[in-house]
Amino acid sequence: MEYDLCGQLSARYCCDVVQTKSQDEGADVVRGLSHRPKTLPSYYFYDRRGSELFEQICGLPEYYPTRTEQGILAGCAQEITALTGQCDLVELGSGSSRKTRILLDAYTQLQGAFTYIPIDVSTTMLRATAWDLLEEYPRLSIHALAGVYELALVALPAAERPRLLIFLGSTMGNLSPQEQGIFLGQVYQSLAPGDYFLLGVDLQKDSEILNAAYNDRQGVTAAFNLNILQHLNERFNGNFRLEKFRHWAFYNQELHQIEMHLVSLEEQRVKLYDLDLELVLDAQETIRTEISRKFELGQLRQALAAAGLTVQRVWSDERQWFALILAQKAGETRP
Ligand code: AVJ
Repeated sequence: MEYDLCGQLSARYCCDVVQTKSQDEGADVVRGLSHRPKTLPSYYFYDRRGSELFEQICGLPEYYPTRTEQGILAGCAQEITALTGQCDLVELGSGSSRKTRILLDAYTQLQGAFTYIPIDVSTTMLRATAWDLLEEYPRLSIHALAGVYELALVALPAAERPRLLIFLGSTMGNLSPQEQGIFLGQVYQSLAPGDYFLLGVDLQKDSEILNAAYNDRQGVTAAFNLNILQHLNERFNGNFRLEKFRHWAFYNQELHQIEMHLVSLEEQRVKLYDLDLELVLDAQETIRTEISRKFELGQLRQALAAAGLTVQRVWSDERQWFALILAQKAGETRP
């Protein structure tokens, strides 16, 4: 664990960088690209440019999830604080923390000083957001963690008070059912009995709405998808040529998931020199860069219960497009 320099700049801010050992760096890329269908871990989307593009996606007319979730949160934030009482906030995939501000406002009304622990793979995003928040919330301390969820969840600072772990935006939809089971186990482990877990999930709906959300007319989602190759080029000294790939996203009705792929427009060879990897791609062969699962509430309750997380309340919008679930780890609350 390294200490970020910005720890010296403010008494209310520090940032731990949690990284894989350098010999493991990129092992997941090699694994994903070494079988068929080729896949890439979705967190590679979020370099500086990718995080910016994602922010743009959140404002697109077709991309309803952000707006919908924000509306639900605005309506239930008071109820959430009333249910959890005073606590510190931990957030997975905090990004710009835009929606989180609704909760930060609500908790500021409820309590004095408290701690926010944002976790994100984009260090630049974490730092920029933290500076804004420190100005906006004078009673807030921020302990940021830069890294992937698995590593960050086991590197959390010791808890001083009860915690609410928040995971918004339906990012859990990026995980396969099997990965989700492992992930929920890690969430359980990271919480103390009585702690809360707030989960935002995109629900199953008409495929036209879903297809439009991932094929926006301005092409921002396409640029976001292609940027993952640019990121790999920069990070692992690669020679992907973006013009030789095309964005492809569709709703897989059987698996209830959006799939995003990059289609190779011709037969080609690509190298990632720093990973000693040479790829051979056939014409029309695809690299799957993301799944975005669309959930059914009944199944999700079961999955949470199976992981030892008891659902306390569920909020949704009028159209039932999106849901927020508040669950609690069973057992005695901290004294
Ligand atoms: C941030 C993973 C929830 O799956 O909808 C948006 C990412 N991909 N458009 C999603 C995304 C394409 C988003 N998540």
